[in-house]
Amino acid sequence: MKAITCTKYGSPDVLQLKEVVKPTPKDNEVMIKVYETIVSPVDCAFRKGEPFISRFFTGLTRPKNTIPGFLLSGEIQEVGKDVKSFKKGDQVIASTMFGANAEYICLPEEGELAIKPINITYEDAAAVCDGALTALPFLRDTANIQSGQKVLINGASGSIGTSAIQLAKYYGAEVTGVCSTTNLELVKSLGADKVIDYTKEDFTKTGQTYDIIFDTVGKSSFSRCKRSLKQSGVYLSTVLTLSIILPMLWTSKIGSKKAIISFTGLRPSSEKTEDLKFLKELIEAGAIRSVIDRRYPFEQIEEAHRYVEKGHKKGSVIITLTGS
Ligand SMILES: NC(=O)c1ccc[n+]([C@@H]2O[C@H](COP(=O)([O-])OP(=O)(O)OC[C@H]3O[C@@H](n4cnc5c(N)ncnc54)[C@H](OP(=O)(O)O)[C@@H]3O)[C@@H](O)[C@H]2O)c1
Repeated sequence: MKAITCTKYGSPDVLQLKEVVKPTPKDNEVMIKVYETIVSPVDCAFRKGEPFISRFFTGLTRPKNTIPGFLLSGEIQEVGKDVKSFKKGDQVIASTMFGANAEYICLPEEGELAIKPINITYEDAAAVCDGALTALPFLRDTANIQSGQKVLINGASGSIGTSAIQLAKYYGAEVTGVCSTTNLELVKSLGADKVIDYTKEDFTKTGQTYDIIFDTVGKSSFSRCKRSLKQSGVYLSTVLTLSIILPMLWTSKIGSKKAIISFTGLRPSSEKTEDLKFLKELIEAGAIRSVIDRRYPFEQIEEAHRYVEKGHKKGSVIITLTGS
C-alpha cells in the first residue's frame, strides 16, 4: 500500500510517499481503508520534532513511528475474528497516535473509533473531528463551561477555534470570537455573538470580562488576559510555553483565576472514543459543522504541511486519498 513516511525530523521534504507492507488486522482489530485525513499544526510539530520535549513521546533522535497522521475517516475492509461491534463496510471516523497517512490502517475495536455521522461526507467528518476533539475536552472538562457564561475564543478562525465557537454556543454560552478582518464573517456565521478584529483592537483592553478565555493558538498570555477574566475565571491555552506553565503552577495554589493547559491527545483512549460518539450526535443534530480551508491529494501532503505551518489556515486542511 501507499503511505507517507517520515524517518527523520525536519522540513516538509522529509515526508516521502512510499510503498509499504499493507497491515493485517489482529483478532481484535479492524482494517480501515482511509479515505480522508488531515494536516494540522500537530502534524507539523511532530514532523519537526518540536518542541524538543515532545521527542520524549515521538522519539529522541528520529520518529519512532514512521507513518504520521492522527485522524482519519474511511471504511472498514476487514475485521479480526473477535471483533463484535464493527463489520466490513462500516463507515468510520478514527483518531490514533500515528499511522493515518496511509491507504490502510489497523486499529483495535476498542480504540478511538466511531461510526461516521450519516449526514456528512468523509471529508466533513474528518474536518469536524480535527478541531472538536480538542475544543470539546478543553471547554467541557477543563473549564466546565456553563450556560450563560461569557466565553472568549482567541484564534476563532482556526481548526480548534471554529469548533470552540460552535461548542460554546451549544453549551449556551455568550461567545466572543477573536480573529483577523478577513475571517470576521466566517466566525459570525459559526454563531459568535460578538467578534473582535485582532488587527484593530486588543481584546484585553476592551474592559470586558469573561468566565473563560480560550486561547486556541497560544498568541496571548495569562498575565495579559488576567484582568479580562471574571473572579474565578479560567484562562485556557492549547500551546505549551513558559507563559502558561508558570502561571498554571502558581494559580493551582493561589488566587481564584486559573491558568490551564492540557494535552487532549494524551487522554485515555476510552474518553476519546466517547467524545467521537458524542461529536457524531452533535453533527447529526446539526449543532456543529465543518470548516474546510483547502484540500490536497495524498501525493501533495508536503505542500499541505508547508501551508499549515504558515499558521493562517481557516478551519481544517484535508488530505484526500483516492477511492473515497
Ligand atoms: N494542547 C492540545 O491538546 C492541542 C491539541 C491540538 C492542537 N494543539 C495546538 O493548538 C494550536 C492551534 O491549532 P489549530 O489547528 O486550531 O491551528 P490553526 O488552524 O493552524 O490556526 C490558524 C488560525 O489562527 C489564526 N491566528 C493566527 N494568529 C492569530 C492571532 N495573533 N490572534 C488570533 N488568531 C490568530 C489564523 O487567523 P489569521 O490568519 O487571520 O491570523 C488562523 O485562522 C496549535 O499550536 C496546535 O499545535 C494543541
